[in-house]
Amino acid sequence: MTRRDLLRSAGMIASAAVLAAKPAARAAAAPPSGAALDPADLLDLPDFERAAKTVMSPMAWDYVSGAAADELTLRWNHEAYEHIRLNPRALIDVSQLDTRVRLLGRELAFPILLAPTAYQKLSHPDGELATVKGAGDADATMVLSSFSTVTLEEVAAAASHPLWFQLYVQPDRDFTRELVRRAEAAGYQALVVTIDTPVLGPRYRELRSKFTLPPGLDRANLRGLATATGARRPTEQNIFSATLDPKLTWKDIAWLRSITKLPVLLKGVQNPDDATLAVEAGVAGIIVSNHGARNLDTGPATIDSLPRVVAKVEGKIPVLVDGGIRRGTDVVKALGLGATAVLIGRPYVYGLAVDGARGVTRIVNILRREFESAMALCGRTSIAAIDSSVIWR
Ligand code: FNR
Ligand code: LAC
Repeated sequence: MTRRDLLRSAGMIASAAVLAAKPAARAAAAPPSGAALDPADLLDLPDFERAAKTVMSPMAWDYVSGAAADELTLRWNHEAYEHIRLNPRALIDVSQLDTRVRLLGRELAFPILLAPTAYQKLSHPDGELATVKGAGDADATMVLSSFSTVTLEEVAAAASHPLWFQLYVQPDRDFTRELVRRAEAAGYQALVVTIDTPVLGPRYRELRSKFTLPPGLDRANLRGLATATGARRPTEQNIFSATLDPKLTWKDIAWLRSITKLPVLLKGVQNPDDATLAVEAGVAGIIVSNHGARNLDTGPATIDSLPRVVAKVEGKIPVLVDGGIRRGTDVVKALGLGATAVLIGRPYVYGLAVDGARGVTRIVNILRREFESAMALCGRTSIAAIDSSVIWR
């Protein structure tokens, strides 16, 4: 049974008996009726995903798990990792593993960050406040979405670990400038500008479950803009959203760099030619991402774009990657193909939905331990040692 089958079988109720069974037996086992969910029985990221489906509202589940159109790129983001083989090494002393990595002048304990995801109160009543606690407890850097349901100031006040802020440039540039100023004032350490979303993709699962922000939830950071409430999605008449700017271009990136002292990273680079332009634009780093396949369907898996982007960047700036990372072996593969670090999106939202801050911490810890295990089994004792030879060719 492939991992994809496991992910597809999402929906099984997690119980000790089901989870203790061998993977092949897992999908076949019928959900025991009325079994209570004990998060301690959830052992890996697919376990949390299946459990999340049983506790999330159908609308939140469809919003988080869904992607664009036929969701082919969503599948490819996962499948592409399955087709990459790792290169095992034996008889190397792996008793000391050093997973530290330097990024933007700071040291991370390990190269896994939390990608920005919007509207976290849809998945847990404490939303981003639970995530920031869970991230801090796991020693992980969280990237807060512009579309958080808690203000960026409140999230920063609850943080025990450095944060980055994801920016959706608003059509109102004065408001955008103020948002950047607020993020700086609150102590965020980097600005992650999302460039892959001039418009949202056609997300039919979202549409079918009538995705909307329930009363009481808003885009907390956008208060003061008429567009703070409601979740406007593309319609049959109009593909544009009031809170995304389809006019965003490289000129705006230069403008953003001119108004902030924070390092600016571009999130959503996929085309190698855009990577060249990003380096020329003087940004501090790029994140190879297809937005979790939520916008353009049938574009490439991010792990397939990564080596081409890395080749263009020639080591001048760090290249991060997200999309489909569910295993420690995926992290080793991404680093072997040139990434400095990776980000995860949906997995920690599932952790949040199942068990709040604790769930977020466990997702990071599980992935981190799997990563360390894969490093050791490939005979790599440091991040620098994870070079292209870790990939079986
Ligand atoms: C996202 N993503 C996203 N990206 C961004 O720049 N700003 C945002 O507000 C959001 N919101 C958002 C919500 C939800 C529910 C998801 C699933 C994703 C994209 C996210 O940062 C990341 O690129 C992908 O989630 C990575 O893929 P995986 O790890 O989910 O496969
Ligand atoms: C999403 C937007 C909000 O992917 O980034 O849902």
